[in-house]
Amino acid sequence: MPNNFHFKENKLHCEQFDIDAFSQQTETPFYIYSKNELIENCQRVIDAGKDKDFLACYAFKANYNPYLLRIIRDMGFGADVVSGGELQFALKLGFDPHKIVFSGVGKTAAEIELAIGTGIHSLNVESAEELKLVSAIAEKLQKPTRIALRVNPDIEAETHEFISTGKHINKFGITQEEAFRLYQLAKDDKFLDPHGIHVHIGSQITKKEPFLKTVDFLLHFSHQLKQSGVPISYLDLGGGIGINYDDDFQSNQSDNEFVNETLPAYLNGFKDSGLKLVAELGRSVIGTTGLLITEVLYRKETPAKKFVVVDAAMNNLIRPSLYSAHHEIVPLAMNSSITEKVDVVGPICESTDFFAKDRLLPTTEQGDYLAIGASGAYGQALASNYNLRPSVKEFLVDKDKVECIYEGRTIDNIFDEFGMK
Ligand code: LLP
Repeated sequence: MPNNFHFKENKLHCEQFDIDAFSQQTETPFYIYSKNELIENCQRVIDAGKDKDFLACYAFKANYNPYLLRIIRDMGFGADVVSGGELQFALKLGFDPHKIVFSGVGKTAAEIELAIGTGIHSLNVESAEELKLVSAIAEKLQKPTRIALRVNPDIEAETHEFISTGKHINKFGITQEEAFRLYQLAKDDKFLDPHGIHVHIGSQITKKEPFLKTVDFLLHFSHQLKQSGVPISYLDLGGGIGINYDDDFQSNQSDNEFVNETLPAYLNGFKDSGLKLVAELGRSVIGTTGLLITEVLYRKETPAKKFVVVDAAMNNLIRPSLYSAHHEIVPLAMNSSITEKVDVVGPICESTDFFAKDRLLPTTEQGDYLAIGASGAYGQALASNYNLRPSVKEFLVDKDKVECIYEGRTIDNIFDEFGMK
């Protein structure tokens, strides 16, 4: 079986579909996803939890295209949502409410009311004040409500500081001491059922140690809580499993060591605990499924640099600008064996609008197409219309067939949204 993304006769293919030929007749930039890659990624998560009482939830924030969500739902996943909007998408798509968890530091009363009314698996509460509001709304609706407190374990995730969430300097969660006190309050509350503990220490974590430290923390804390009479029956372990952004499209994405090794190791840490386990995975499910395809508009040189100016920009994929994130870049047609060091940049009026700096790439010319790799997670989901650039289309490949799964938003659409009289 070839990889889901691979070169055949020097042309990049997604499954059995020639992306280069497609790009010649399709407006760029666009996102393209592999259905099989998505199914394989989901299956790996499910396999990691087999023989365990395990609920795999997908973190909608990574990519909320409903066509992709439907595939993930059909693989048996639940939903990890962080807004009323994501909860509404989950319900519209028929995700089982008992498989929905709701996190977030700033839930509004309306969002809490919707979650309680729906009877989701768990509301993950992040502060004393939120707990008070959840209790009041549960009482108003006369609905017993299952909650977990999100605990901040003060563990270093060893990832980019902007996506590290489990240290006390971060806004997320509640310290262990305060959480212990709040669990006692919740236990005595007529409408609250504090059945779980939630943690999420960060994203794109590529080492095992931070997760293993979290195992120790959770085993210890759940034991302490149970001894104090709090009926803890499950642990929500968050997400954060990293992916390989250095894959050069030749090696096998399914060899992803982080999902293959780290997730089973994390789950196995709890094997004798008798507790149900929940994970909230975004990037490791959807990240490697998508590419951003862009056309080379111009080449230009200054005394300091060679630039390749492309028609995609930071409004389409902001990760390099925001986190200096590395995404692999390859020409769709591998015609040249000559390489050169270039900056790949977009048309937006910001110096942070780049996809690569001083990167050795095969030489490309005006009109060539490039693929920006592993763009399935936090790509289109973080896109904007900055510089009044329209939202781009998304396509889904299934074997040798392609389907448009998002039509984009044209400049006319955007203008009309102002409802100008
Ligand atoms: N659960 C919670 C509570 C989260 O905050 C997140 C991600 C996840 C689960 C899913 O994490 P994952 O498995 O995808 O690592 N925009 C950044 C990533 C932000 C992650 C935010 N929270 C990026 O492009 O790298």
